[in-house]
Amino acid sequence: MGAVRKNNQFEILLVEDTPEHIETVVAVLHDNDYKIRIAKNWSAALTLLSKHQPDLILLDIYMPEMDGFELCKTIKSNRAFSSIPIIFLTARDDEESIRKGFELGAQDYVVKPFHGSELQARVKTHLKLKQQTESLQEANRELDSFCYTVAHNLKSPLLSINKLLEYLIADYRDRLDGEGQELAAIIQEKSVEVISVIDHLLEFSKMCEMPMQNEVIQLEQLFLDVYNELIQLQGQRKVQLKLKPLPDVTGDPVMMKILVANILSNSLKYTRDREIAAIEVSFSETENEYVFAVNDNGVGFDMRYSSRLFGVFQRLHSQNEFEGSGVGLAICQKIIKRHNGQTWLIGEVDKGATFYFSFPRQNEIKGEKDVKR
Ligand SMILES: Nc1ncnc2c1ncn2[C@@H]1O[C@H](COP(=O)(O)OP(=O)(O)OP(=O)(O)O)[C@@H](O)[C@H]1O
Ligand SMILES: [Mg+2]
Repeated sequence: MGAVRKNNQFEILLVEDTPEHIETVVAVLHDNDYKIRIAKNWSAALTLLSKHQPDLILLDIYMPEMDGFELCKTIKSNRAFSSIPIIFLTARDDEESIRKGFELGAQDYVVKPFHGSELQARVKTHLKLKQQTESLQEANRELDSFCYTVAHNLKSPLLSINKLLEYLIADYRDRLDGEGQELAAIIQEKSVEVISVIDHLLEFSKMCEMPMQNEVIQLEQLFLDVYNELIQLQGQRKVQLKLKPLPDVTGDPVMMKILVANILSNSLKYTRDREIAAIEVSFSETENEYVFAVNDNGVGFDMRYSSRLFGVFQRLHSQNEFEGSGVGLAICQKIIKRHNGQTWLIGEVDKGATFYFSFPRQNEIKGEKDVKR
């Protein structure tokens, strides 16, 4: 749900410790009917953030008692608050602090002493952007929910058609000539195909609708467990799994298991012609996020068509070569998006493929449990 605003009033959290600056900001924004809450230190900022989710944060980055950059990082790495735009207020317009602010996820900055009209314009722009993003997200959610309803409602009549055809084939066998029997069999086969498409759509929609839990996940163990489950279904195969030490992440355990299962099942599927399949799971990190990589030495794919890969029912290999429905990666992308990360796939024909996903590093914020998402 988009943020519900009391009296349609935007709420701004001002994190600033200098009384004159507080006065100026309040005076500048006074006419716009914003609700402004003020935090003069780190803990007040976090408490206010947890109690009243603001639409925008104005953050002084140089304060004697706290590091505004650190606070910016903490806010941006927390899923509950990461979409709140931050405009940082800085007395220094040196490139280094501005770069650092943007790198930590802030959306904009204003240099002090600021011009009232500039601050006003920037605040207005970011509030408008946030509102537009929320409406788009709402529209997307409605679309997801519509997709789920359509798929769900189509499934039961399709199952009936399939059952009726089964009766027709069994009970009227004597009265149908060879061609009639063949046609009935083809119709039945097609109905099974459509039911399978519907099932995959439902599976995909479930990832959009499912409420998320937030738990610590031992990713390395998860990869190992899922791999052990999948390898048992692979028959006689030589597979070398190289699993580098991976950090724990915070996320939804059910979704993350589905993610890992989809990635590994692709790696196993597209390496199945290799004499020795090699799969390597590794990661790298930046200040804000981890990037996980699952590499295989399989058949790979042509990068010219890579933009299609994450679309529902999109496949780069034919059903004859490799079976599949083309929803696995769409599901992976949806799961990672819901964790505020990104997914991408790099491949080279006959050399293999690497699936990457980024995952924000989570910092706990006190009082976070009270925040409704
Ligand atoms: N590791 C990989 N190596 C080569 N191609 C890959 C790999 N992973 C995905 N692909 C390509 O991306 C396409 C989409 O993958 P996706 O997992 O969505 O579907 P799928 O594996 O075909 O079917 P399923 O829905 O059963 O997972 C695949 O059809 C394949 O062409
Ligand atoms: Mg797949």
